[in-house]
Amino acid sequence: MESLHLPNVTHFFDPATSTFTHVVEDPASPATMVVDPVLDYDPHAGVVATHSAARVLRHLRAQGRRLDWIVETHAHADHLSAAQWLKRESGTAPRVAAGARIVEVQQCFRDLLQLGPGFPVDGRQFDHLFTDNETFTVGGLQVQVLAVPGHTPDSVAYCVGDAVFVGDTVFPPGYGTARCDFPGGDAGQLYDSIQRLLLLPDHTRLFLCHDYPSAGVAPQSLSTPAAQRSGNLHLKGGVTREQFVALRQARDATLGKPVLLWPAIQVNVRAGALPEPDASGHRFLKIPLTGEST
Ligand SMILES: [Fe+2]
Repeated sequence: MESLHLPNVTHFFDPATSTFTHVVEDPASPATMVVDPVLDYDPHAGVVATHSAARVLRHLRAQGRRLDWIVETHAHADHLSAAQWLKRESGTAPRVAAGARIVEVQQCFRDLLQLGPGFPVDGRQFDHLFTDNETFTVGGLQVQVLAVPGHTPDSVAYCVGDAVFVGDTVFPPGYGTARCDFPGGDAGQLYDSIQRLLLLPDHTRLFLCHDYPSAGVAPQSLSTPAAQRSGNLHLKGGVTREQFVALRQARDATLGKPVLLWPAIQVNVRAGALPEPDASGHRFLKIPLTGEST
């Protein structure tokens, strides 16, 4: 899709969760969109902090940007979203949005976490839910939303001119692709979604959601369809859908749960809001016991 302008993109990397937050700027106006802001969380201390999101906010203020949209590529299982903090602190009433199938993730985790009938599962925690191929604007930039399910059902990518924010689909080529063993995940759908992204022109800038660099190596935030087709660990050599599904499922069977799965999901299905305090004024996150080991 052609946008009126090409966006300027600044990224912030959170080494604690290996996550990129991307700031997408209209060069012709102050209009700005933030993709996947991170809320810091120390699971040992039970403390949330806003150092990562505050870096983004300082950048916005220093550059005279106006935050219009805060968008999530999916309900992340590896970090908590800072969307509500950033919305509140920005002072510019940005809309917080995600893919429409977030409601399926809400339904699933309402049941798994016993969040009760009072927990809404219609997506109302978000200001807007995007359907496949929906378009919206950030100043003079046009954004097209592409549904890219597979890692999660609600996964979406955001296409802005020559830039695409791919979420958890492909990682840097040497690291492969996203896992598909979360509830509602599907390796065949991820293959199809990735093919959709790899059909984009070869000059497309694919902005990644994660990298897991070795010590001393800079994280890689950017790739291209050509680099992914020729070099991605899980896709190169013309891997078929059937081969990919077998490979992905075998790899997923070896992976443990993400450390922050339960805290992250509980906040992210609330669009980045913390659970409400109880009568004592304290907030709690639930951690289900899912088995016993002897
Ligand atoms: Fe993810």
